[in-house]
Amino acid sequence: MPASRIAGTGRYLPAEVLTNEALARRVDTSDEWIRTRTGILQRHIAAADEATSDLALHASREAIAAAGMQPSDIDLIVLATATPDMIFPSTACILQDKLGIRNGGAALDVGAVCSGFVYALAIADKMVASGAARNALVVGAEIYSRILDWNDRGTCVLFGDGAGAVVLLPSDAPGIVTSHLHADGSHRGILCVPGHVHNGQVTGTPYLHMDGSAVFKFAVKVLADVAHEALAAADLPAERIDWVIPHQANIRIMDATMKKLYLPHERLVVTVDLHGNTSAASIPMALDVAVRDGRIRKGQHVMMLGVGGGFTWGSVLVKW
Ligand code: COA
Repeated sequence: MPASRIAGTGRYLPAEVLTNEALARRVDTSDEWIRTRTGILQRHIAAADEATSDLALHASREAIAAAGMQPSDIDLIVLATATPDMIFPSTACILQDKLGIRNGGAALDVGAVCSGFVYALAIADKMVASGAARNALVVGAEIYSRILDWNDRGTCVLFGDGAGAVVLLPSDAPGIVTSHLHADGSHRGILCVPGHVHNGQVTGTPYLHMDGSAVFKFAVKVLADVAHEALAAADLPAERIDWVIPHQANIRIMDATMKKLYLPHERLVVTVDLHGNTSAASIPMALDVAVRDGRIRKGQHVMMLGVGGGFTWGSVLVKW
C-alpha cells in the first residue's frame, strides 16, 4: 500500500531566552508557580527582525539536510501557524521563496492553532501517499510573543516562539500508519485571538484570550480519545506505543493523558520545560529532539497528539 515516511527532522529556537525568574520581574508571578502548574522553565523570544518564516527556514534547512536532500527536491510545503508573517501571501509561500525554490509545487498554510502540525502532517501524508506530491516539507512555526498581553500573567507565562519541520517521502510501508483529525468550533471562545483588521484598524483584542481551566479539561479528554481512535484503527494495544509526543502545552495535561492511556511517564517526550507552549511548532521540535538524541529507533511506534484553539485535535501514529 503506498504510504509516506518521515525522512528528516529539524528545529529552531530563537537566541533570546526568557526565564521564569526574568518574567517574574516583569509581571506578578514566580518561578515556583509557573514550574509547578505547567512544567515550563523558560521560553525563547524571536528578535524584532525575525519573522515566522525565518524561524521556519532554519528548521526546514535542518530537516532537508537530515533527509539528505536539497530544497529544490521539495514539491510540497504545508506550514502550520497561527502567527503568519502577514495576512497574505501565506507563510508557506514566503518560506518557499526563502528556500530558493522557484516554480515549485503547492505551498499552503494550515490554521489549526496548536493542532496545526498534526493537521499539516496528516494532509501532507495523504498527498504523498496518493502520489500528488513526492517530497513534502511539513513545518510548524510560531511567534506567539507578539500576540501575548505581557501584563496578563494568566497567559504570558505559558507561550514561546520556535519552529520544527519534517521531510515526508513516499514509502512502500508506513511510515505514517494512521491519522485522525477533529474540530468543534462551538468551543472557539475558550482559546482565541479575536482581533481582526477592519478598514485599516484592528477591531477586537489582538491578544490571546484563554479560559485556562476549560482548556485544561477539554485537552485531557480529547487527547486520550483521539489516541484511542488511532490505536483502534491500527489494531494496536496502547502498550505497543514506544513514545508519545503530545502537543507541549503543559506537563500536567501530558501526564494526565498518559494516565488515561495507562502508559508510564518514561514513554513521554517532554520539551515544554525548555520552550513553553510553541503551538504548532511544539510537536516537531519535540520529535526532532527525541530523534537526534537516539531515543526514537527504527521499528518503534510514535504517537503524536495535537490539541488547540478551534477547538481542534488530532493524532498521527508513526512506525519509525
Ligand atoms: N502566576 C501566579 N499566579 C497566577 C498566575 C501566574 N502566572 N496565573 C494565574 N494565577 C493565579 C490566579 O489568579 C488564581 O488566583 P486566585 O485564586 O487568587 O484567583 C490562582 O493563580 C489559581 O489560578 P487557576 O487558574 O486556578 O490555576 P490552575 O491551577 O488552573 O492553573 C493554568 C492555571 C493556566 C496553568 C491551567 O489552567 C492550565 O494549564 N490550563 C491549560 C492552558 C493551556 O495549556 N493552554 C494551551 C492549550 S493549547
